[in-house]
Amino acid sequence: MSPKIKVFTVVGTRPDTIKLAPVLYELQSREDITSILCSSGQHKEMLEQALSIFGLLPDINLDVMIPGQSLESLTSRMLTLIADALEEANPDYVIVHGDTTTAFCAALAAFYKQIPVVHVEAGLRTHDVREPFPEEFNRQAIARIARLNFAPTPKAVSNLIAEGVDPDSVFMSGNTVIESLKIVSERISKGGSLASRVDGELNQLFDFDYRFSKTVLITMHRRENIGDGIKDVCTAIANLASAFPETKFVFPVHLNPSVGKDVRQILSGLSNVYLVAPLAYAEFVALLSNASLIITDSGGIQEEAVSLGKHALVTRKATERDEGVENGLLEIVSTDGDQIFQSASQILNQSSADAVPVVNPYGQGEISKFIVDVVLKHAK
Ligand code: UD1
Ligand code: UDP
Repeated sequence: MSPKIKVFTVVGTRPDTIKLAPVLYELQSREDITSILCSSGQHKEMLEQALSIFGLLPDINLDVMIPGQSLESLTSRMLTLIADALEEANPDYVIVHGDTTTAFCAALAAFYKQIPVVHVEAGLRTHDVREPFPEEFNRQAIARIARLNFAPTPKAVSNLIAEGVDPDSVFMSGNTVIESLKIVSERISKGGSLASRVDGELNQLFDFDYRFSKTVLITMHRRENIGDGIKDVCTAIANLASAFPETKFVFPVHLNPSVGKDVRQILSGLSNVYLVAPLAYAEFVALLSNASLIITDSGGIQEEAVSLGKHALVTRKATERDEGVENGLLEIVSTDGDQIFQSASQILNQSSADAVPVVNPYGQGEISKFIVDVVLKHAK
């Protein structure tokens, strides 16, 4: 038997953990792979929630989060700690996801040690390094050093090729978010203990039944929106809540204190606005699946909205997820209060805001299997 290959996967935040969970399941299922999961701990509570829903137990915990961390201190601490962990584990491949500081530091540390980097969710671009900040830069930088690039859509493939990335290193894979959503949605719809937990948690949080109420689900956290952007979006939500008193506006507030301060100042105390702590993924998926409208500056939630056929207003100047704009489910509204009010009102006034069936631009499944097969083939 040929020796096992050692694959070192690094997660650190809520979105990379959720989207790498199916890849980690696939790695763990292969006899010819030794899978090592390293958690940078860039997030704490939000990371715990994501690891726990997928039953993932990191082999290495770097525990770097400091409340209110700056990008430079986070980056410098994490780069050294990941490099030390790589030195000790001496893997054949390092897998990173997307555009976080965790992904950037892990890719850079692996590059310095000349370990091949596998980039999952490669090639998304706004082409403006200030938006999303600093994620657009992180994603572009990882493309310069990745040995294997898994691009979720044809557009992401062409972005990489246009930048001169070696076409032989680029694979159109679909987006693993489809599998994450499927895993959790199926577990909820089976009606077992997870379904009861979700119903119990959500019934405890709300004085309405989320399954039969018209809801708008809101999240905000991008660095470039902190301050005026978040204030403008929250003011628009306060106006919408007053114009649509029967609609419930649910806002799980990101734990970044610079986000929560303004959200709570503007939206606390409104009777049909529900400010809650970040929700575990299963509870969040249940709400997403029942929402009439989503308002968000999140990357992953744009993909989930499109996958579920939901309308989402994207509170950013630009998106690296154009596929959903092209199929009419996403609208870029920036943080412009008037535009948010107008577009949201239009959707909420429709007689039915049911899911709109679309061809999912992110694929149909078997994405993680494809990714792991390519890594194994590359190793031989
Ligand atoms: C990071 C990612 C962003 C991703 C987001 C997902 C970077 C540069 N940004 O941004 O791409 O969209 O995660 O949510 O990597 N905090 C806690 N507990 C937690 C998580 C965060 O208290 O579990 C607080 C801390 O005060 C922390 C702050 O939130 O300092 C910001 O966290 P950080 O990871 O630096 O940035 P995000 O804005 O979360
Ligand atoms: N999410 C969650 N609970 C919440 C809000 C979001 O589980 O309260 C999930 C969401 O379904 C998506 C991911 O977190 O899968 C997106 O994370 P986030 O918006 O923090 O980061 P981004 O995708 O913008 O990088």
